[in-house]
Amino acid sequence: MLLIAPSILAADHLNLERDVARMVDAGCDWLHVDVMDAHFVPNLSFSPKTVRCLRRRFPDLTLDVHLMMDNPGKYIDRFAQEGASGITVHVEIPENAAAVLKHIRELGLRAGISLRPGTPVEALIPLLPLCDLALVMTVEPGFGGQHFMPGMVPKLDAIRQAGFSGLIEADGGLGAGNVPLLCEHGLDVAVMGTALFRAENPKDLIDSLKRQAS
Ligand code: DX5
Ligand code: ZN
Repeated sequence: MLLIAPSILAADHLNLERDVARMVDAGCDWLHVDVMDAHFVPNLSFSPKTVRCLRRRFPDLTLDVHLMMDNPGKYIDRFAQEGASGITVHVEIPENAAAVLKHIRELGLRAGISLRPGTPVEALIPLLPLCDLALVMTVEPGFGGQHFMPGMVPKLDAIRQAGFSGLIEADGGLGAGNVPLLCEHGLDVAVMGTALFRAENPKDLIDSLKRQAS
């Protein structure tokens, strides 16, 4: 069943509680928290305290934390303590990704691995046994509102063909025009920022995407 994860990167950061509540009321399944360190990607975004506040206000909401950071290993414990449900790191990090993934699982959280558009999917395959989720970036990470890169679709097939039984997630430029196609290639979780937060009626969009995926 397709899960919808709004990315708060696209929310009104002055009215985060209002915008997240609107997505919860619209029936979203997860909340995607894009954390950026201005090194791994040329942008800065949220902090562990954002996760703490979200967890306090939305105690039952799955918080899907995506660390677009050079050295995420130093922050796993902190995001776990603040209430993250799952943590995704990138295969391109300069530290030992396998060790970071093992640590995330040791803390009882969902462990995810992600890759930039320019990284061949082969880089991900050896790490899949350590993961519960694989996140395919369908834009260059760092900013919302970019155009979906259809050339990334074969990565979903390759991950499934490698025997991965975990969740496949995609992030970047997702909307009504491409989520149904991604579902045909094994998508389980759709990260959506602009398409959802700009939608006149996000519930209609979520319901429609779930109906088409079923
Ligand atoms: C890129 C971000 C975006 C964001 C989704 O680093 O991760 O992909 O979450 O934003 P939209 O849906 O606007 O592309
Ligand atoms: Zn993300």
